[in-house]
Amino acid sequence: MEELYTLIERHARLYYDEDSPEISDSEYDSLVRELSQLEKDFPEFSRKDFLTHKVGGSPSNLFAPVTHKIPMLSLDNVFDNNELEDFFTRIPNENLSNYVCEMKIDGLAVSLIYEDGKFIQGATRGDGKTGEDVTENLRAIKSIPEVLVNFPSGRVEIRGEVLMTLDSFNKLNSEREENGENPFANPRNAAAGSLRQSAKNNDIISKRGLDFFAYYLVEAENFGIKTQNDALNYISEMGLPVQKAWKTCENLNEVFDFINHWHNERFNLNYVTDGVVVKINDLTKWNIIGATSHAPRWAIAFKYPPEEALTKILDIKISIGRTGVLTPVAILEPVRLAGTLVKRAGLHNFDEIQRKDIRIFDTVRVRKAAEIIPEVISVEKNSRSGNEKIFKIPTHCPACNSEIVRLPGEVAFRCPNRASCPAQLKESIKYFASRDGMNIKGIGNRLSLQLVENGRVKILSDIYELKVNDISGFNRMGVKLAQKILDEIQASKNRPLASLIAALGIRYIGKNAAELLAHHFKSIDAIKNADESEIADINGIGAVSAKSVKSFFDDEANLELLRRFKALGIKMNDLDKDSDNVFNGKLSGKTFVFTGTLLNLTRDDASNKVKSLGANVSNSVSSKTDYVVAGDKPGSKYDKALKLGITILNEQEFFKLLADNF
Ligand code: IVH
Repeated sequence: MEELYTLIERHARLYYDEDSPEISDSEYDSLVRELSQLEKDFPEFSRKDFLTHKVGGSPSNLFAPVTHKIPMLSLDNVFDNNELEDFFTRIPNENLSNYVCEMKIDGLAVSLIYEDGKFIQGATRGDGKTGEDVTENLRAIKSIPEVLVNFPSGRVEIRGEVLMTLDSFNKLNSEREENGENPFANPRNAAAGSLRQSAKNNDIISKRGLDFFAYYLVEAENFGIKTQNDALNYISEMGLPVQKAWKTCENLNEVFDFINHWHNERFNLNYVTDGVVVKINDLTKWNIIGATSHAPRWAIAFKYPPEEALTKILDIKISIGRTGVLTPVAILEPVRLAGTLVKRAGLHNFDEIQRKDIRIFDTVRVRKAAEIIPEVISVEKNSRSGNEKIFKIPTHCPACNSEIVRLPGEVAFRCPNRASCPAQLKESIKYFASRDGMNIKGIGNRLSLQLVENGRVKILSDIYELKVNDISGFNRMGVKLAQKILDEIQASKNRPLASLIAALGIRYIGKNAAELLAHHFKSIDAIKNADESEIADINGIGAVSAKSVKSFFDDEANLELLRRFKALGIKMNDLDKDSDNVFNGKLSGKTFVFTGTLLNLTRDDASNKVKSLGANVSNSVSSKTDYVVAGDKPGSKYDKALKLGITILNEQEFFKLLADNF
């Protein structure tokens, strides 16, 4: 149980807070199921306050908090017809008649509030009680009307799901790959990541093509509505989009038919669904039947199993990442799975090939959940003809022929030739130019590859020495485009220090850590000369990252690269006045003082937030203070601020200020 608690905690964080899951939803669900069975059998070891007994993730600090008048609950899952039947027959004393079946949309739940027909507030689910105010971002979604038609007077709350259609998702991901950015794992993450962009980034939101379907009219009885069937029609008549795939069923057999029908049919929809939500139609029963702390008892989600199919492995290829890690990939005889044509499957690492005894030309069972990359689950050993080829772990890098190494304690095999392996160099260029790095538009996958293959870039700094005719001959590249890209490259010389640090691809130092380093040290030289302990002492940077920074700067090849950057005029510090803060500096020059306890974030986090916007934080109030943020039980600083007439913000107002300036 301990192991499951730890695992689930980690994967929930990756899913809810970081929008980057590592396992499929169905694998996550099976961990949760294993845990709940154990909790039933051994209640004495059960953690009552564990996240599986609550709803969703925690609201972030990016947006102002919104309290839901009625909690936004989650749904429990069932995985087959028997479990579904059990769920409804367990409801005591209720003669259930009909049900409404709807597709379970894989997006993120939001609540919309309309007042006299006008959209006034939208919020995410958050922890179910408190969500994030994403009103402005939701306004950028075309299918959410600003004004309703046929609306009742007063307040109406409608809940539904924000999603990204498959078309938009595929388009967005190919653009991201082209720009050297990491593709989103699935449409749900893409939708969540896009919606929760800092407010005022509506451009991104409307460009990314988010969509919305409504499925829940809150307190429907206030509008004389008595069934979910009528609620969906009512919502739709108000001008809000409702998905087409729903049906009122007279009994459970019709429910099973609906589920069967959509098992394959769902792949013709332009959005991802991994199941069916079955709701009791009669709304008057909802209140009687009630809910647990996290899910209603009047509705349940039926989850389809991940799709599986048999196919043949035609080859096993190796891809080499930016840090030299070799990853095997199975090239498959194309097979239809979860609505897409699957041609490749991840094999994770070489141990996995040996453990599963996967050979070239083997017939294998592959699995693809709607939301995740395909994987090989097992080999059909009985189908072997004897012609299968055992895959040999290469001894040399397929790209540069260096001898491959395996560091003690690591699963991964690496090509150690960091300095000149063309495969690593190509990935490094792409990473260097990516949006979180030096943000050089035009250098993506294709150009990075061409630059390496044609020998135009042998070390990253060569990018800054390119001439128009070095690249204008490349496929799909004219003189005009070449010039544009060179202008982009030149412009990147003045990026803030944090961008340069992130672009270097130091292990464990992503965008956030790079910003912390830049903010603390203000120059590459200062980082180079710092003690490991000074780096590790920065709030938000751990010992492992500090060690990694140190070893990066201990490597002569990296120092040589930095010397070249400097000689080529790349800005190596943030010491000039305007870039004193590495961010957009909307609160530049303002001084904040905090007093009292903040409920939604620690004082450190609050300080970091305002500092990241260019503001200073001081411990005492003076006439130079611009804002005093007063939490619960503020101290004498509050009185002093009052006396001096300084603007005092409560926590809510503080969040609003942050959101407005982000
Ligand atoms: S009804 C009280 N209907 O699934 C809960 N939810 O896993 C009422 N979802 O939080 C939710 N499609 O975000 C409902 N047709 C649908 C849905 C749906 C997707 C989401 C919703 C919910 C989550 C639970």
